[in-house]
Amino acid sequence: AAPNHAAPSSDTAQSSDAAFLADFHFVATIGATDNNGVDRQALTPEDKQTRDWMRGWATDKGFDVRVDAIGNMFACLEFVPDAPYVLIGSHLDSQPLGGRFDGAYGVIAALFAALRVKEELAESGLQPTYNLAVVNWFNEEGGRFAPSIMGSSVYAGLFDLDEMLAVTDLEGTTVAEALGAIGYAGTDTPPEAISYAEIHIEQGRILERETTDIGVVESSWYTQKLDIDVLGEQSHTGATAMADRHDALVAAAKVVLAVAEVVDEFEEEALVSSVGQHVVEPNSPIVVPRRVHMVADLRSSDPAIVQAARGSLRAQIAEIARAHDITINVEDFDIRDKRHFPTEGVELAEKAVANEGLSIRRLETMAGHDSVAMNHRVPAVMMFVPSVDGVSHCEREFTTDEDMVRGVRVLTSVAGELVRG
Ligand code: GLV
Ligand code: MN
Ligand code: MN
Ligand code: MN
Repeated sequence: AAPNHAAPSSDTAQSSDAAFLADFHFVATIGATDNNGVDRQALTPEDKQTRDWMRGWATDKGFDVRVDAIGNMFACLEFVPDAPYVLIGSHLDSQPLGGRFDGAYGVIAALFAALRVKEELAESGLQPTYNLAVVNWFNEEGGRFAPSIMGSSVYAGLFDLDEMLAVTDLEGTTVAEALGAIGYAGTDTPPEAISYAEIHIEQGRILERETTDIGVVESSWYTQKLDIDVLGEQSHTGATAMADRHDALVAAAKVVLAVAEVVDEFEEEALVSSVGQHVVEPNSPIVVPRRVHMVADLRSSDPAIVQAARGSLRAQIAEIARAHDITINVEDFDIRDKRHFPTEGVELAEKAVANEGLSIRRLETMAGHDSVAMNHRVPAVMMFVPSVDGVSHCEREFTTDEDMVRGVRVLTSVAGELVRG
């Protein structure tokens, strides 16, 4: 089916804001869930529909759309032949039963910002130094294919392309197969970046609490995951004597509690932790589970705190395994260093916000973002708009139209400045 487009933007800022909002709310209907969320996990039919929408929108407006080997989409505006690109964007994929703002807001904001920069350049007659492209990064969320932030990390050279193409989901489908199945196994060379800018919902409460319009990220948190494999022994839930059981789920339950309670060893909110995913095998009501596979997520602004928590957990998990006479394998993965964003970018955002007559504050990001990966490759600017009640990765995620529109204006200003060089 042909992608459904909202009205094209006109010259006036107001109708461009209206067009942005119409498109944003249209995209939220793709993969819509019962309670105002979206479910568009990477490379599902819903992800394909959203990608097709972006391709149609950008092609209509004169962008040249390229898709690279890991399925990142780039909508390119070439102003200066052979010059590198300022990249702006985020991700269109979502968590299962996710919110409609996380990621999609940043991509749609970037499409409108790029269009406005193009119009402003045409009006002013100024010659920019760089080209501009809007990017939809593949699989930021990592719900179906782990690790998260996959497409931008491949682009930034942090992850190996072939290793990522071989990653499987729970059904055993590889990234390569899933990309092919929806027609997004690209062969295009991605544009070469000179800088990166992203706008995203905050997913926290700071901006709302302080009634501040925009947040600018000074640094990311140190984050790491633990892949935990609890290996017990399968047996009959009725016929096996209690003393003979090696129940993987009972041991796993104690591991979950240890992960939740390890935060109490540190100052309040210095460390956050969760087991977000677990898979029970064989998952029958009449079978003592033989295996539980789970992933724990540990994050702190202070890398030493995560290291200490990890050490404490490894010791506790060894003790749980001993007590239940089962094997528990623990592996570190998806380690992301705490990293500062360049001060020049922070100041650029502050200037843009001041010019718009808005308020801004500096903060850290606890959530992972494509900008965190891109900040390893080129100078990156990461900005936030307020989240109502600070909630995210759920259907209740919400940001007002007014806040979204302000963010588009700020991103336009930042992108314009970066393109002028
Ligand atoms: C993914 O959404 C993350 O925050 O790491
Ligand atoms: Mn996101
Ligand atoms: Mn997310
Ligand atoms: Mn994220």
